[in-house]
Amino acid sequence: MSTSQVNTLSELPAHIAFSRSIEGDIAVNLSNSCAQTMTISSLLAYCDSKQPSMAELELSYASIEGGGALRQAICDFHHQVFEQTWLKPADVVTFAGAQEALRSVYHALLQPGDEVIVMTPSYPSLQAMAEQCGANLIAVELAFENQWQVNWQALNSAFSEKTAMVVINSPHNPTGMTLSEHELESIVNLCQKYHCYLVLDDVSQASQYQQNSAVRKVDYDKAILINVMSKSLGLGGIRLGWAISQDQQVRNALIAQKASGSICTSAVDEYLAHLALVNHQPILARANAIIEQNIKLFNQFLSQHSAITWHQPQAGILATIKLSDKLLAGDSIEVWTKRCAEQTGVLLLPTSLFGLSGPYCRLGLGQKDFAEGLARLSNFLNG
Ligand SMILES: Cc1ncc(COP(=O)(O)O)c(C=O)c1O
Repeated sequence: MSTSQVNTLSELPAHIAFSRSIEGDIAVNLSNSCAQTMTISSLLAYCDSKQPSMAELELSYASIEGGGALRQAICDFHHQVFEQTWLKPADVVTFAGAQEALRSVYHALLQPGDEVIVMTPSYPSLQAMAEQCGANLIAVELAFENQWQVNWQALNSAFSEKTAMVVINSPHNPTGMTLSEHELESIVNLCQKYHCYLVLDDVSQASQYQQNSAVRKVDYDKAILINVMSKSLGLGGIRLGWAISQDQQVRNALIAQKASGSICTSAVDEYLAHLALVNHQPILARANAIIEQNIKLFNQFLSQHSAITWHQPQAGILATIKLSDKLLAGDSIEVWTKRCAEQTGVLLLPTSLFGLSGPYCRLGLGQKDFAEGLARLSNFLNG
């Protein structure tokens, strides 16, 4: 095959391509979408010593839907953190990350010509995967001027007889928009009216630090919940995510997709994910305290740099910040962020990579080196 035949699926997502285009090392990723990670020994220090040792683990294939003990731990996690008490282990299918779970959901449930409603900007895959399935993306735009809140008029008119799926990501990547329980109920009602699937990409829903809005009462038979180890728990090195559906036909279709992807999740990842989920409370408490502290640091930073503004997120790990025209001094946001990265080692991703052009960048609030990133950025701004 000649290189001219390489198809568009072979292109890197824009945010990865942008990071790779930067010359020199990145010292602090101020756009990181994960909570602070930890070593295996720190994870083990949180864990109950009654757990069987990893040395006893048999290194065979795991079962295709995910091991029984892990799926029970996933259900317990959902019961305890999100009060989703109706879930059963049989409703869960594990995947190699939320990414594989989402890809399987899109490919299992969409036909060419279907419409998929996504709030934009968004995590790039939520838009790209619709296109890969031949479905039409119906974008509902979130705007800084509207505090990133849902535009209900636009959302209502986005639905049609062709709507096959609505994808909700709250707390939202990259804006930080968080849906209230009441707003989520309104979306469920719309999905019921149009008989469409509702995908809840809840990867940072457990990152709660102000008032607790983690509760998700989504008892809808066409809802598919997605979650993962990487975001709120900060354990992306455990490559494990899951999809939850009460519909057996949907689960069978997801398992069929998985059979042509990872086939099964790694037994080692399953072991570590089980340990972390059973002991999620101190892990989340630590991660969420770091986010809360970083929000305070960022507000202090803003009091010294009026050229940057934001709408402080109520939950989650991410926010979108706005830079003044004076600060950009005629440069595009892409040129400015690239220069910032190459001169200071601080990575800030422009939101154009997520589908929002204009003077905006994604800010990640989950990392312990946040203060160092702000100090470097401050020097850059002070020129
Ligand atoms: C909203 C959203 N969904 C899904 C994913 C995929 O998660 P993972 O890479 O851990 O599979 C991400 C990753 O950034 C994300 O931000």
